[in-house]
Amino acid sequence: MLNSSLEILAIVAAGNSRYRCRCGFLCGFPLAERAGAVTIAPVNSAPLGFFDSGVGGLTVVRAVQELLPAEDILYLGDTARLPYGSKSPETIRQFADEDVRFLIARGVKAIIVACNTATAHALPTLQQRYSVPILGVIEPGVDAALACPSAERIGIIATRGTIRSHAYQHALALRRTGLIIHGQAAPLLVPLIEENWIDHPATRLVLKTYLDPLVEKGIDTLMLACTHYPLLIPVLQELLPKDVRLVDSATTCAEHLKKELTRLDLLETTPREGSLELYLTDLSEEFESLARQFLKKSPGRIHRAVLGN
Ligand code: DGL
Repeated sequence: MLNSSLEILAIVAAGNSRYRCRCGFLCGFPLAERAGAVTIAPVNSAPLGFFDSGVGGLTVVRAVQELLPAEDILYLGDTARLPYGSKSPETIRQFADEDVRFLIARGVKAIIVACNTATAHALPTLQQRYSVPILGVIEPGVDAALACPSAERIGIIATRGTIRSHAYQHALALRRTGLIIHGQAAPLLVPLIEENWIDHPATRLVLKTYLDPLVEKGIDTLMLACTHYPLLIPVLQELLPKDVRLVDSATTCAEHLKKELTRLDLLETTPREGSLELYLTDLSEEFESLARQFLKKSPGRIHRAVLGN
């Protein structure tokens, strides 16, 4: 129900995506849920919203900060319900929906699903449901893998949920014929990384167990199809044959985002240093040092997020 001409104006303006309400109601929620008069502000200065099950999505944040330093960023890590990768598709879709609502309620101008598992299971539903632009990490990952014309035998390591969705396998096969694709679920890696056991004998043993079958199949490319995995790159480089190319989606995701924001005329054009605000559904002692490793700098102030409000 619309309450005022201001709301009608906001909806019309939001349609051409230059102006949105700062509270997010008119820019993102389904029409039936929009209510209450709002103030209209240029949307270009609104923050970008990111979410992941934990801190892994910060690898994407770092790449975006490098490419688009003026953008404000709001990051949600659903650490209370991590990992997403072992949950059912329905549960992942429900969690992703709650994450998106949290970000929209804080007035973000676009959302990056910085989680492969959530992208694999929830992206199309989220894009249909909300009018705010929502981007995932799978297409950028596929772009990164196929940037090398000689890539032929592709190994994918990811959460069980991502592998079972076949989202990467389909996206790769649609883009290039004749690829030989091997998916390997690696469910123990996210908990090990969140535990900060990065350079740890247990992690090496687990990695070797996951990688050996792929190496035996002669892969030339290994896709790190989980936003947590880039932290393992130094260990992976030691364990893999030198001619296997490692690919992650963070940089190509930042490039996709820049193109999309430019196309929608949503880029922050004021020369400034953007801010980063972190929200977690569970604050653990390990998070700060882990976040520093992901971001390669201090994570700044961390807030506790309560979803569903
Ligand atoms: N970073 C998430 C991903 O990219 C981790 C998923 C999980 O929580 O299991 O898939």
